[in-house]
Amino acid sequence: MPHTGQRAVAQEWWRTAAIYEVYVRSFADGNGDGIGDLAGVRGRLPYLAELGIDAIWFAPWYPSPMADAGYDVADYREVEPLFGSLAEAEKLIAEAHALGIRIIIDIVPNHGSDQQQWFTDALAAPAGSAERARYHFRPGQGDAGSLPPNNWPSVFGGPAWSRTTNADGTAGEWYLHLFSPGQPDFNWAHPDVRAEFADVLRFWFDRGVDGFRLDSAALLAKDPALGDLRSGQGAGAHPFEDRDGVHGIYREWRKIADSYPGERVLIGEVWLPDPERLARYLRADELHSAFNFDFLCCAWDAARLREVIDVTLTTHARVGATPTWVLSNHDVVRHVTRYGRADTAFSMSDRRIGEPADRELGQRRARAAALLTFSLPGCVYLYQGDELGLWEVEDIPDEMLQDPFWERSGYTDRGRDGCRVPLPWAGEEPPFGFGPDGCVPWLPQPAEWKDLTAERQAADPHSMLQLYRAALRLRRAEPALAGGDLTWLPSPEGVLCYRRADSITVLVNLSAQPAELPADAEVLISSSPLDHDVLPPDTAAWLRAGATSPGAA
Ligand code: NOJ
Ligand code: CA
Repeated sequence: MPHTGQRAVAQEWWRTAAIYEVYVRSFADGNGDGIGDLAGVRGRLPYLAELGIDAIWFAPWYPSPMADAGYDVADYREVEPLFGSLAEAEKLIAEAHALGIRIIIDIVPNHGSDQQQWFTDALAAPAGSAERARYHFRPGQGDAGSLPPNNWPSVFGGPAWSRTTNADGTAGEWYLHLFSPGQPDFNWAHPDVRAEFADVLRFWFDRGVDGFRLDSAALLAKDPALGDLRSGQGAGAHPFEDRDGVHGIYREWRKIADSYPGERVLIGEVWLPDPERLARYLRADELHSAFNFDFLCCAWDAARLREVIDVTLTTHARVGATPTWVLSNHDVVRHVTRYGRADTAFSMSDRRIGEPADRELGQRRARAAALLTFSLPGCVYLYQGDELGLWEVEDIPDEMLQDPFWERSGYTDRGRDGCRVPLPWAGEEPPFGFGPDGCVPWLPQPAEWKDLTAERQAADPHSMLQLYRAALRLRRAEPALAGGDLTWLPSPEGVLCYRRADSITVLVNLSAQPAELPADAEVLISSSPLDHDVLPPDTAAWLRAGATSPGAA
């Protein structure tokens, strides 16, 4: 049976889009202070248009004290001054639209910043006040309330609670923060919180944004009892993850999105162990799509990838949702590095920074992975620098690390800075055109990135950049690639082989043996040079169909 992952309706743009994540701080620096900004992005829009993407997703661009790189938002209706201004964001949206690029922005609804007005008001108000009711404030346990109200852990390490100090200097209540202490969790049972975010969505939709990426989307609803986290709390019974109450919020948001013209979308960051539970967020009246983290975390292994692809297609088809495919983002070890390790699987709980990685092998596999990803039915996400084949920077000096993981883990988890190093655009030495000459990027760039600059790769027909451009161009030109059915074809062990609609056959050789290409193969593109009519290990190819199944060489 072929998989038909799409609803039988006209194809909406977001069902087959290629969406590029811009991490503003590290993309391009327009004013030379070493920090990427909107001026830098505006200057590079033609590069993104040429790359062939359909939309940009911006990591948070709001004013923020940067306790978690902007995921601690102090004002949801403004732009961080380091990045630019609201007026500049509006210009950027208009310029992107003129180039046919849509704009998706991050919204962070689970938590705000401890510098946000609501929270500073709450701290100034007494226990039990209306101001505190918008958050989760509780008395502590134990003698004089010196222990946290429950055992919930913070994602970044340590308890998810911090204690406040009363106006008279005595120790006060505790407040909940599933992430850093600078990110207090909102109380989504409070009507002010619901009304505020509905208004924020409208604020940005009114300014032309085409959609939102919903940060930590499965965490908003909390068990009102705030009881301890216990093992064995199955689906729906967890005190703060994936509670059924969260779906009502997204149904309300979907109505808001649908009330605007031009197919505005909601994309969920939903990390869940159960793909069936993930699919519930994608029902017709909830989110349009969600990131496929099972695919991102999967090892470079044919059988395991095939299983993830099958489960994705089946669970999404059941609710009429579009599948998505992603290899990297600003939270994970870059896939060139992951695929160059002995163990190519990834888990957020252990980044394994510093583990030996063969970069050449990782890049070869990353090229094949790009052709795999871009030939699956649905929507694809790229993270800035994927198209340059950047690797994780694992030797950032300790004192320069900024990610809260580093401190909160007691200096054991080096965190996510290694995938956030400023991009190399041109030239022979840092800042590699990231900003004007003489600018000092906020994180140091490896000297070897002189070989990976966008400028150098644009001049090299065999570069990663040229592979990305060519594959994205083909994907647009061949609607069967993104939108059609997927049918597995017989193949040797370690080789993925599938037919897209009736027109394209895809082969990805993850085995250590060469695989034979069908005799009549017309190769549209391959990730590495082919050896006559065999597909070398760690290579992918798209063939014009008509070709029969491959065999072992
Ligand atoms: C997910 C974001 O991608 C990550 O960068 C952030 O730290 C957490 N959510 C908390 O907002
Ligand atoms: Ca700047």
